[in-house]
Amino acid sequence: MTQGAPRTPARRTVLGAAGAAAFGVSAGLAAGAGAARAAETGRPHDRGHGHGRGFRSLPVPTVIAHRGASGYRPEHTLGSYRHALDLGAHVIEQDLVPTKDGHLVCRHENDITGTTDVADHPEFAARKTTKTVDGVAYTGWFTEDFTLAELKTLRAKERIPGTRQENTLYDGRWTVPTFEEVLRWADEEGRRRGREIWLHVETKHPTYFRSLGLGLEERLAKLLRRYGRHRADSAVFLQSFEPGSVQRLSKLVDSPLVVLLSGANTRPWDFVESGDPRTVADLVTPAGLRWIASYAQGIGPTLDLVIPKDAAGRLTTPTTLVRDAHAEGLILHPYTQRNENAFLPADFRRGTDPAAYGDAFGALRRYFETGIDGVFSDNPDTALLAAADFAGR
Ligand code: G3P
Ligand code: CA
Repeated sequence: MTQGAPRTPARRTVLGAAGAAAFGVSAGLAAGAGAARAAETGRPHDRGHGHGRGFRSLPVPTVIAHRGASGYRPEHTLGSYRHALDLGAHVIEQDLVPTKDGHLVCRHENDITGTTDVADHPEFAARKTTKTVDGVAYTGWFTEDFTLAELKTLRAKERIPGTRQENTLYDGRWTVPTFEEVLRWADEEGRRRGREIWLHVETKHPTYFRSLGLGLEERLAKLLRRYGRHRADSAVFLQSFEPGSVQRLSKLVDSPLVVLLSGANTRPWDFVESGDPRTVADLVTPAGLRWIASYAQGIGPTLDLVIPKDAAGRLTTPTTLVRDAHAEGLILHPYTQRNENAFLPADFRRGTDPAAYGDAFGALRRYFETGIDGVFSDNPDTALLAAADFAGR
């Protein structure tokens, strides 16, 4: 893979992937590489839900419900997580941020302006403020300024009501869950459904929160130990865009670890803070992947690192990332698949309404053909059908 573009801090849009990667591409990965690898490794496409045998027993491609079934319910609510399970998702994702009193709660970011009704609470009006998080200024309300008891008076709401109007039906129905509530819920659901409930847990802005005295990793490790998810074969992945957070977790627990990778020209924020000059483009070289494999079991690249888009937003030729990561023993869980035209590659959009569904199956087929091990999806039912199509092709 090539590199050389300007080195900038990681800046990711809230919903979409970062810009197209500036990579050299391979001659093209053979279609069906996933099946070939499954045959090599004895990993069938569907072994159930990985009951008790670690992440290598999960179905491939693994469908990870991104923030729950966030295409259908307000994200990071028990309603969104439960719906994802009902749809058959193999794994349910949580993003974690802390409260003022050190509880881990499930939110995509500490700014809760867009995903709760905090703006409707006059008692919290004075807490609206502007903060710089990972080099970016935000104005709103922030979890670290609320105790858990205060946060629990808020209600979750749909992040993108203009695109997902139907989800607003559920606005106000659920509170912001703590991670401990999710762990309890997952145990209960596991007993009820007779299978392990897999989680995929991300530390958000770990360097920023550590600077506030609210380090995430120790708190997370403590909860994982309390609920028995700290072992190499536990039904959990731990993930972060900051390799330093993943390395810290590797010293605290044995759970499987995944390094998230944003756009090729970005730098993980802990690298920015520590002066490490490496970019994501450096991390996706064979040497970079070997370094990741020294402490983690997988990577979570933006889909654009797997198949870059051209200037018009159409899919081009796959990079060598899948082959190179597999050569280092790393699995790949790219992000994020969504059914709406607004989030699909240009060649898979249908019509001109950005909120209408495009050819999500066509796009998923292209991604699965690269040999990825799983995908984060807002629409896990769609991804599951596409995975079944792919397995049966
Ligand atoms: O963690 C995988 C994927 O969720 C990364 O994107 O920004 O939605 O957390 P983000
Ligand atoms: Ca995430």
